Amino acid sequence: MQLAPTSLPVGPDPAQLTRRVQDMIAAGRVHAARPLMAALRRLAPPSPELHDMEARLLLREGRIPEALAELDAGLAMDGGAVELLISRADARMQAQDVLGAAADASDAVILAPRHPRAKAVLGVVLLEMNRPEDAVPCLREAVAAEPRHAPCVRAYATALERCGEHDAAAQVLADGIRAIPGDPTLRTAAIMVAMRARDFAGAADIAEAARRDGVADAQVFGLKGHALSSLGRHGEATAAYAEALKLAPEDPYVRHLVAAAGLRPQSTRAPAPYLETVFDGYAQRFESHLIGLHYRVPGLLRAALLELRPDVGDGAALGPVLDLGCGTGLMGVVLSDLKLGPITGIDVSDGMLREAAQKEIYGDLVHGELETFLANDRTDWPVILAADVFCYFGVLDEVMKLCHARLAPGGLLLFTVEEMPQPSEEDVAKGWRLGRQGRFSHHADYILRVAAEAGFALRVMRREGLRTEAGADVAGMVVALERVRHDG
Ligand SMILES: C[S@@+](CC[C@H](N)C(=O)[O-])C[C@H]1O[C@@H](n2cnc3c(N)ncnc32)[C@H](O)[C@@H]1O
Repeated sequence: MQLAPTSLPVGPDPAQLTRRVQDMIAAGRVHAARPLMAALRRLAPPSPELHDMEARLLLREGRIPEALAELDAGLAMDGGAVELLISRADARMQAQDVLGAAADASDAVILAPRHPRAKAVLGVVLLEMNRPEDAVPCLREAVAAEPRHAPCVRAYATALERCGEHDAAAQVLADGIRAIPGDPTLRTAAIMVAMRARDFAGAADIAEAARRDGVADAQVFGLKGHALSSLGRHGEATAAYAEALKLAPEDPYVRHLVAAAGLRPQSTRAPAPYLETVFDGYAQRFESHLIGLHYRVPGLLRAALLELRPDVGDGAALGPVLDLGCGTGLMGVVLSDLKLGPITGIDVSDGMLREAAQKEIYGDLVHGELETFLANDRTDWPVILAADVFCYFGVLDEVMKLCHARLAPGGLLLFTVEEMPQPSEEDVAKGWRLGRQGRFSHHADYILRVAAEAGFALRVMRREGLRTEAGADVAGMVVALERVRHDG
């Protein structure tokens, strides 16, 4: 006699599968989660929760527009789904849609006032909108509810620091490190806070504590090298850089610092990620620091411009101006009384651009790398400025050619470079050198050579003190080049 089966064959349980996929996404196991997610979408009917999971996975994969489409679909099914609003605020931030993110984050907080992630995302959005005072209470609540959420702890510390509360920011990070000792991002953030307060010994101590706690991270060692180098402890700095390089031989930030310490063949320019890290961290105290160093570069470039175009000083219009590496906009400030067309600033550091935007002088501020910008731009600029920017380039051939191509006939390129102290024969032949602080200096003959090769005529080349360092003048050159009219 044939017995009837006692149970039906067991298929995958959608609820169990959902939990597995959620865990995988949270753990960043994107490749493993992708096929299971596809299976889940075949098994379970569409729901806001599924759209949210798919969107989170897509965000992890860097597919932002597709993630936004999923979230829109989920919210069309349930407009009050707080988790989806939080995810869409996050996705919109990644898509640089800050206002859209603000709307979603506010809706999420209104619907669920005690939800820590809603508070966290609203705090992050407010920070992005340069409203750190408003961000602080949101992030404080979020961190109190989830003290082990590292991105939230970092955002809270950033908000406090932007409000001028350095000690409170340092304390928040110290508490965060105690709660999540294995997280290197909190160690890095704490070191940066100490460095920005010019507490280099404190920064080196935090890095040393990280090593004692078994956190081996290239950025931590790289920053330790930076701190020690600022203290003049170059031998120990070199050892820290060497450790950083072992851990992350391909990291552009580490590679550049290590090259600066003379440990590997020189970089030919400072990489954009390095500049972003340095200047984002430096933006808020950039100007007060430079005032202390008697920074003269913007004024020197203005004087050179008026020397070549005295009519502009008498009120003649000049047309649009491009300010390469505009930083916090000091060049715009010194030119603001002249009749210039709109000034466009370009910079790789968002933090610096944020400071420039507050001055309301620039017609346009572009976030990006300047060579890439020049290569894609189609404007014929009457004037291009680069104030204290070419010190982040060793080789200048390419940037000179790009500037030449983007100038109108008769247009001027005005810039400064640091002059190479005590050049060896090899230095003179090469024309540039990378210094310990990660900046390049140049030789006058090299500037003349690359300018001529790019097709420029020399109008001004003058030795000047650009600022001071450790009480001594930093020698540099003010240079003005013209794209002559008949060069086609
Ligand atoms: C020392 S600051 C000078 C800022 C401003 N020009 C001034 O004189 O105050 C150098 C600026 O150049 C920017 N910078 C350097 N290299 C760059 C690059 N390749 N592309 C875009 N920005 C760059 C840095 O982010 C930084 O804001």
